[in-house]
Amino acid sequence: MTKVLRDKHIVLGVTGGIAAYKAADLASRLVKAGAVVDVVMTEAATKFVTPLTFQALTHRPVVTEMFALLRETEIGHVSLAQRMNLLIIAPATANTIAKLAAGLADNMLTATALDTRAPILLAPAMETGMWENPMTQENMARLQKRRDVTVVGPGVGRLASGGVGPGRMAEPAEIVDWARIVLGRRGPLAGRQIVVTAGGTREPIDPVRFVGNHSSGKMGYALALAARDRGAKVTLVSAPTALPAPVGLQLVTVQTAQEMYQAVLASLSESDALIMAAAVADYRPAVAAAHKLKKSGAGLGLELVRTPDILAEVATRRAELGRPRVVVGFAAETQDLVANAQAKLKAKRLDLMVANDARQAMGADVNQVTLLDAAGGVEELPLLPKDEVAERVMDRVVELLGLRSEAGGA
Ligand code: CTP
Repeated sequence: MTKVLRDKHIVLGVTGGIAAYKAADLASRLVKAGAVVDVVMTEAATKFVTPLTFQALTHRPVVTEMFALLRETEIGHVSLAQRMNLLIIAPATANTIAKLAAGLADNMLTATALDTRAPILLAPAMETGMWENPMTQENMARLQKRRDVTVVGPGVGRLASGGVGPGRMAEPAEIVDWARIVLGRRGPLAGRQIVVTAGGTREPIDPVRFVGNHSSGKMGYALALAARDRGAKVTLVSAPTALPAPVGLQLVTVQTAQEMYQAVLASLSESDALIMAAAVADYRPAVAAAHKLKKSGAGLGLELVRTPDILAEVATRRAELGRPRVVVGFAAETQDLVANAQAKLKAKRLDLMVANDARQAMGADVNQVTLLDAAGGVEELPLLPKDEVAERVMDRVVELLGLRSEAGGA
C-alpha cells in the first residue's frame, strides 16, 4: 500500500463513455490503496455503468443528480469541492472537457470541478475524430492554462467504434500512478533530487552471454517510486529488470557496472541523496569476446577483473563536493549480517545501510531488513512487502536530509 494515497479524499468523476467500465477498476484500486473515494457520475455515465457498481466498490453513496442529492448536505458539491485532495475525471468525454473549459456548471460533476481548488487529473477518452478536432484541442489547452490539470493519455488503441487510433482511456494503473505523483508533489522531498540505482548489472562474456545475479530490481524501483511520491525529482539508474518503466521519473538504463558507475557519477553533482539498491557486479570478464564463443572439447576458464566500486568513488567525490548529502547503501549478505553490514557502512562512509539476507531478498516481493545508521543505531524491521520497506527507508532519508518526515499531501 502506498502511503501517499492513504486517507486522501479523492472525487472520481465518471462521464459517459464506454471506458466508464474501466473507472470501476480505477475506483477499486484507489480504495485498496487506502483513499476515500466519492464517485460523481454524469447522467450519461449511468447508461454505461450503474451507480450501484461504484457504491459497492467505494462503500460510499454515489452522486448522480445535482438537486436530488443536495438535501444530503454531506455530499453537496460545495462540501465535496472543499474536502477533496484530488479530482480525477476518468473517462473525460469531449463534452465534459468542453464544459470544463467553458466554466459551465450544469451537473454535479462540472459544478464540483468549477468549485474546487484541488488539482484535477483528467483521463480523456473519445473517438479519434473528436480528440483530434481543433475544438477539443483548444478546450484542452484552455483548461491546462487556467487550471491545475494533469492529463493522462489518451492512448492509441481500439475504440468503441471498432476503429484504432488515439482516444483510448489510459489504463487504471497508470491513472493511479499519476494520482500518486500529483498528490505527492508537495511532499517532504519536493524540489529535491534523488538518485536510485536498481537491478543487477550484466557483465558480458560474449555478445550473447553475461555474468549476472538474481536481482529483480523490485527493491530499487519501489524506492524510486517512494521518493517520487514524496515530491522528489528522481533519477532511476537501472540495470536490466523485467519491470515496466515507471512514470514520473527519469529512467537511465545501463547494463554493466562500468556504465552504472558513469551514470551515477554524472548525476551526482545535483543530487541530494543517492540510494544504491543495485546489485553491482564486483567482477567482470577481463575481455568480452567480439563473437559468440564456440564450445570445444576442453573446459573454459574465465578470467575476471574488478569493476569500479561505485560507493567508494562517491565517498571520495562527496568529500570534495559536499554532495550528495545523504548516501544509502544496501548490504547483501549470506552470513554475519549485522557485523558485515556495519563494516561496509563504515568502509563506504554511508549515512544508512540497509542490510538484508541476499538469499531471501533477491527476486522476492517481501524483504526483512535491518537499518544501520552512522550513529550506531540498529533498527530491525519485520518481514514486509518491498514497497513498505521502501517507505520506511525513504522516511529515514527524509529525516537524514533534515526534512519533516510525514509523506506528501497536495
Ligand atoms: N556497490 C557499489 N559498487 C560495486 C559493488 C557494490 O557501489 N562495485 C554497492 C552496492 O550497490 C551496495 C553496496 O555497495 O549498496 C554493498 O554491496 P555488496 O555487494 O553488499 O558489498 P560489496 O562492497 O560488493 O562487498 P562484498 O561483495 O565483498 O560483500
